[in-house]
Amino acid sequence: MSAEGPAIEVDHLTVSYGTQTVLFDVTLTIERGLLVGVIGPNGGGKSTFIKSILGFVKRDVGAVSILGRQAEKAKGLVAYVPQRGAVDWDFPITVGQVAMMGRYGRIPWWRDPGPVDKRIVDEALEMVRMSDFRDRQIGQLSGGQQQRVFMARALAQGAEVLLLDEPFAGVDAATERAILDVLHTAREAGKTLVVVHHDLATAAEYFDRLALIKKRLYAYGPPEAVLQEDLMAQVYEGRLQVFTRMGESRKEDKEACGGHA
Ligand SMILES: Nc1ncnc2c1ncn2[C@@H]1O[C@H](COP(=O)(O)OP(=O)(O)OP(=O)(O)O)[C@@H](O)[C@H]1O
Ligand SMILES: [Mg+2]
Repeated sequence: MSAEGPAIEVDHLTVSYGTQTVLFDVTLTIERGLLVGVIGPNGGGKSTFIKSILGFVKRDVGAVSILGRQAEKAKGLVAYVPQRGAVDWDFPITVGQVAMMGRYGRIPWWRDPGPVDKRIVDEALEMVRMSDFRDRQIGQLSGGQQQRVFMARALAQGAEVLLLDEPFAGVDAATERAILDVLHTAREAGKTLVVVHHDLATAAEYFDRLALIKKRLYAYGPPEAVLQEDLMAQVYEGRLQVFTRMGESRKEDKEACGGHA
């Protein structure tokens, strides 16, 4: 699907739940083909930011466009991988069925998935290395496997822009690598990926750009420009004991602050 413009443009976005404003006046442009990390403290509005791009939460003011189209008219261009806690894992559905859900937006209501849909789903499951689990109920998977199935669904959708909410949460190091490989492959294929992430120790290594959000957008740019000590101290309010400086030992930093940011 051809479309013009940057991957995502967010213009003066403000979002509230009831009377509580959780995002205020956020403006940024994400160019195509980038792997972007969204960082910031718990409750900072990262998930809300993703959901407001998708139109899942109502904007108070502001506009969002995707590939040059108003977000409301760009639904097929964007795919979403939710935070794990937001999914009902007891729902009786198999890995293959979840991945096929990615095709439903493209299949007319009067017909079943055809060979092309099945091939695309096969490729997506292969890409996340979950083909062997096709008939398994999603509730009977490990956290990392569940995450990969939802990535397969997003890939099967054929969207140009993928939004992922903490895909690395609660997975082991090998699975984290596997997921990162999938993100890189998608980027090489020209996709734009926006990923909520909270491990600052790996943020610089994983992402082309970082968006630092705590109600406001504090910074957006290359990791070295965003991971500034004063900025991080301001946003994390001293809750970070060790700050990752580029070039310092990652391992030590990871032990000190990984997962607690
Ligand atoms: N559906 C909702 N109704 C009311 N308040 C909400 C709702 N969802 C989120 N909030 C509030 O909005 C703020 C931002 O939440 P959000 O989930 O976007 O943060 P987050 O940065 O993703 O946090 P975390 O790192 O814990 O996932 C928080 O104060 C949260 O309590
Ligand atoms: Mg969140």
